[in-house]
Amino acid sequence: MTRAVAAGAALWVAVACAPAPGAQIDDAAVAIPGVAATPPMGWNSWNSFGCDIDETTIRAQADALVSSGLAAAGYRYVVVDDCWYSPQRAADGSLTASTQRFPSGMAALGAYLHARGLHFGIYAGAGQQSCAQLSGSYPGRTGSAGHETTDARTFASWGVDFVKYDWCSADSDLADQKRAFITMRDAIRATGRPMIYSINPNSGLTSDGEVRGARYDWGGVATMTRLTNDISPQWTAATGPDGYQGVADIIDASADATARVSAGRWRDLDMLEIGVGTSLSPAQQRSHLALWAMMAAPLVAGNDLTVMDPATSALLRTPGVLAIDQDPAAHPATSMTADGTVRTRELSGGRHAVSLSNRGATATTMTFRPTGSGPTHNVWTGAVVPTGSDGTVSVTVAPGDTALLETTPGGPGQ
Ligand code: GLA
Repeated sequence: MTRAVAAGAALWVAVACAPAPGAQIDDAAVAIPGVAATPPMGWNSWNSFGCDIDETTIRAQADALVSSGLAAAGYRYVVVDDCWYSPQRAADGSLTASTQRFPSGMAALGAYLHARGLHFGIYAGAGQQSCAQLSGSYPGRTGSAGHETTDARTFASWGVDFVKYDWCSADSDLADQKRAFITMRDAIRATGRPMIYSINPNSGLTSDGEVRGARYDWGGVATMTRLTNDISPQWTAATGPDGYQGVADIIDASADATARVSAGRWRDLDMLEIGVGTSLSPAQQRSHLALWAMMAAPLVAGNDLTVMDPATSALLRTPGVLAIDQDPAAHPATSMTADGTVRTRELSGGRHAVSLSNRGATATTMTFRPTGSGPTHNVWTGAVVPTGSDGTVSVTVAPGDTALLETTPGGPGQ
């Protein structure tokens, strides 16, 4: 942005000024009215299948979402990520499904999902190319730039309920991103179909080398906005903000994120890696779900649901944790410690959730003092946690794990 400032007799011009961290990109109260009063929940194809998707795979995942009980627990959006489309647009400029991968077409897939009580999500690239096209892993240049109205109408006509709109261009600036993301928001609004609008402004960097999504508040532009670069199924990735992110890296990034969160304006910590690969311990997977819930983040499973083991299924469906995530008050947690290992989240009805994370290598006892008068519950087990004679509550937390407690009205304690 360039501005002119009159200071006394002097006129200062052309002062380059990047918006301050947390600055709102657009002042709309909500991007798409009527969607996502609570954080969206569902499943996305990318973490387990990458570019290797077809309609048989997606239908099998949808069936497993229902038969496993995940759909009944709230995971209802089935998002078909990158690589579903034909590498060429049709003669009229519209996107079409890859005839090899989705021979029945996308409207038929939408009908299949809707018949099972599920919602239909789809991926599109914001620039000239999708991320897979940019990286050379899928042919063509079918990004939505210049085709926003056509593509939003196409998606609406297929019964799409969720658009993942992904930025994949390293050579553009914030002004380009604003224009692109707002143009698609307005195109989605103009269809009249209430589609969740999920953006990822992180795949390109600002000219000063910082990741965009973490810096600004896109809540008036999109229903949910990615905070970091892509998650990978490991605890820490050590590649910096423009490389892959481990679960702990994203937890750290979320602790001091400045964007405002409220109904219809969610901060996306990326899809879940629970049940993906073998690198994350059971305790780390619990922390993954617990901290996503504490931060009121969308819960979008990324594991192969057709081979899901009972422990993964049970973890993803843990009722108390999902209730924290979906709490209608929509207040994400604040960190009580500089390292973010203790967080409190204000819940509806005057209750509070408290997370106590052990980032060390050995089990540790963590203590806090609830200020409410009633009992404190362990959210994982439902059991009452005894209050000591000094009024404190103590829990032993395994390495990598997160204890989740819920207090009765009166305050979170300290
Ligand atoms: C980007 C996104 C991922 C996924 C891929 C698809 O990397 O951040 O979530 O959508 O593109 O190519």
